Amino acid sequence: MCGIVGYVGEGSALNMVIEGLRRLEYRGYDSAGVAVLVDGKLETDKRAGKLANLEASLQEQPLPHSTTGIGHTRWATHGAPNDRNAHPHLDCTRSVAVIHNGIIENFAELRADLEERGHQLSSETDTEAVAHLLEEEVASLGDGLDLAEAMRRVCRQLEGAFTLVAVHVDAPDVVVGARRNSPLVVGRGDGENFLASDVAAFIAHTREAVELGQDQVVELRRDGVTVTTFDGAPAATHGYHVDWDASAAEKGGYDYFMLKEIAEQPQAVADTMLGRVGRDGRLHLDEMRLSDDELREVDKIIIVACGTAFHAGLVAKYAIEHWTRIPCEVELSSEFRYRDPVLTTRTLVVAISQSGETMDTLMALRHAREQGSRVLAICNTNGSTIPRESDAVLYTHAGPEVAVASTKGYLTQIVACFLVGLYLAQVRGNKYGDEIKSVVDDLRKMPDKVAAVLERMEPVRALARELRDCTSVLFLGRHVGYPTALEGALKLKELAYMHAEGFAGGELKHGPIALIEEGVPVIAVVPSSLGRGSLHDKVVSNIQEIRARGARTIVIAEEGDEGVVPYADHLVRVPSSPTLLQPLVTTIPLQVFAAEMAAARGHDVDQPRNLAKSVTVE
Ligand code: G6P
Repeated sequence: MCGIVGYVGEGSALNMVIEGLRRLEYRGYDSAGVAVLVDGKLETDKRAGKLANLEASLQEQPLPHSTTGIGHTRWATHGAPNDRNAHPHLDCTRSVAVIHNGIIENFAELRADLEERGHQLSSETDTEAVAHLLEEEVASLGDGLDLAEAMRRVCRQLEGAFTLVAVHVDAPDVVVGARRNSPLVVGRGDGENFLASDVAAFIAHTREAVELGQDQVVELRRDGVTVTTFDGAPAATHGYHVDWDASAAEKGGYDYFMLKEIAEQPQAVADTMLGRVGRDGRLHLDEMRLSDDELREVDKIIIVACGTAFHAGLVAKYAIEHWTRIPCEVELSSEFRYRDPVLTTRTLVVAISQSGETMDTLMALRHAREQGSRVLAICNTNGSTIPRESDAVLYTHAGPEVAVASTKGYLTQIVACFLVGLYLAQVRGNKYGDEIKSVVDDLRKMPDKVAAVLERMEPVRALARELRDCTSVLFLGRHVGYPTALEGALKLKELAYMHAEGFAGGELKHGPIALIEEGVPVIAVVPSSLGRGSLHDKVVSNIQEIRARGARTIVIAEEGDEGVVPYADHLVRVPSSPTLLQPLVTTIPLQVFAAEMAAARGHDVDQPRNLAKSVTVE
């Protein structure tokens, strides 16, 4: 949440910062602001609303040229999303400008103390306290401004989660950053350096990045980067090369990132399997950093995740238990960390997170590790905090995901979980090689099936447009179709702002059926009619039951499944796949439906109201 950019170099700091903010706007869009250093003065502009408002204001009143600057796009926590609360925040002397992502938990206390010492705070934010604390520390350090040292001293007074970036009028070529529990990466260029919440901000200028660790302060100059701990000791850093380029973070001709990301799913699914499954059906996951002995010891798996990633975990549970016979629980990270889960050294906790920065998931994994459990991260973002703090990691290779609502991130999370489940079965000998090979062969066919579904989405889009004025849509499924129904409902809520609810077919008569009245659209995900026939027939019965009560039935069923035809007002065909793999195809019409519905209702598909892609606060 909140996007942060800092720049020092030879180019126009304002252009660099605005360009970075454009790529980070998915992190929050309640307000945007910039501060640049010009001839010993701070020049700032900040506006409520989307970045476009700030850009319009800068067009009207351009800021003077500068080579050092910072910028912020906000997802509001403390204080309303107005101009006054927009970042950057300045101190009393207008010498220091600060931007922040996170929550400073002891801010009320800090603020009261600052006011008692005569500071005038003009916003309702927790961030502003930092600007005034920096003012005090800079003053107390005396001549020869050391902004990094002032920042370290301030950080030692703060509680909570924060990424902070600051500039000072007396340090014209310096940008200082600090991080605890929130993301911040360095981009190392030639004669210029960047700080940002995400590499996307600077990828057009450099692909060389440096991870910052927990409780570290970084001082950025044109020709160098110095990293220390909050105590001032030199800190070891880890540099890496970003393996995607700027074009991956562009819309590439689509109206929305979400549409592009939906279309990229065949490739993303294939890439996530690449190099990990041999033609002989054997899985190669040595990169995961968990030894086979460690995996053989596992007697329980707990998957923790939030939002869409949680639904990927729900799908994974069906597969992992079936293939490995290891009990597998799935829990929302925010619930897991506040109860007292039974964890032992033989528990494998799997933390699923596209961004690798979701605060609740991070805290859940820390809790699990404190109890001695091993943690495996399934993550899409290299260099992010969750994989760094886990014992093991399996990256999804979805490429950058920009739209707030996760699509290719979701499908690749499911694939990665499948790989983990199959690998466990291989290592522990739960399945014979030929059984694993047969699943792997089916998995290999999925990218083509995903592509085939995408090709026939026009009727789904037309239906979404037709239903644009309805007030509620229900989703029904069984087995892995149940998490698919939950995901379909979540997507619609997020994007179309309408009542949407997913439920398990078996629960229909325990409540949801009361919601059925004339014309209510119900999207039913029908299991394969092969293999688990009874499951298929039960969903078909559910469809009959709701149709008899007036529901308008939208049925997602496999090609060749004729049993559903009489009960479907609308039929969406997907290629036939083994039951456990079906979510990789049945989810797609639901994503397309939600995106089209949002567009038809005039909403911003990529940036739904009140949401942010990366939830770095509790
Ligand atoms: C937010 C996003 C969702 C995402 C969830 C978990 O709510 O809007 O799209 O599924 O966070 O994010 P993560 O990065 O941990 O997968």
